[in-house]
Amino acid sequence: MSETLTIGLSKGRIYKETLPLLEAAGIVPAEDPEKSRKLILETNVPGVRVVLLRASDVPTYVEYGAADVGVAGKDVLMEHGGEGLYEPLDLNIARCRLMVAGKPGALDGHHRLRIATKYVESARAHFARQGRQVEVIKLYGSMELAPLVGLGDCIVDVVDTGNTLRANGLEPLEHIADISSRLIVNRASMKMKSARLRAFIEHMRAAVEARKG
Ligand code: ATP
Ligand code: PRP
Repeated sequence: MSETLTIGLSKGRIYKETLPLLEAAGIVPAEDPEKSRKLILETNVPGVRVVLLRASDVPTYVEYGAADVGVAGKDVLMEHGGEGLYEPLDLNIARCRLMVAGKPGALDGHHRLRIATKYVESARAHFARQGRQVEVIKLYGSMELAPLVGLGDCIVDVVDTGNTLRANGLEPLEHIADISSRLIVNRASMKMKSARLRAFIEHMRAAVEARKG
């Protein structure tokens, strides 16, 4: 098979947690991204390469076909909207919850809430479902700081252990969604590289099932 397969991953937890699944599917990157500055990693399989992206850019690379497949958090996919993407497999990794959080009582009363978050779309949709008027302030990180210095009443962020919230005197207030990372596939690639992609997805599926034990 001469066609190439490009896999989009983000450094950090998604890379670390996807690596064992890729290995189980027979794919081993030739370099460690923590040690190399390279953004394209060749693998042990000819024609299969990994590209290293910002987590929130993975759906965009896959949507435009710059990567055939990728791994992205459901939180990121909900913001992206999912156009041009198939989402064939829940990898069951990088699990957390998307939550509204703030100081105790931050949601009480009927005033128009100000929400500081990088999850603008999910925040709007969540409060729209409640019929509650909100103003959303877009941030790119360190959301937990915002309510402490008067930027907004509450935040929307992912929570795992709750340690970051607790350390900053905040608490989870409302659950929005359970989050895990998904395998996403470019729609055109799925047709053009059908055999290779189907085999890849099935190997990944078997690796996920084996991990569940
Ligand atoms: P970007 O670099 O684009 O801002 P990021 O810093 O959120 O992204 P990561 O921290 O690597 O990137 O998170 C990647 C994904 O892992 C998130 O989209 C989310 O689905 C999940 N995630 C984030 N924080 C946690 C956590 N504390 N525990 C488990 N999963 C998490
Ligand atoms: C994420 C997220 C929260 C934190 C939640 O940040 O933005 O700040 O994790 O996790 P917790 O509930 O377990 O504290 P980031 O990825 O920067 O933090 P991490 O790598 O330390 O989990």
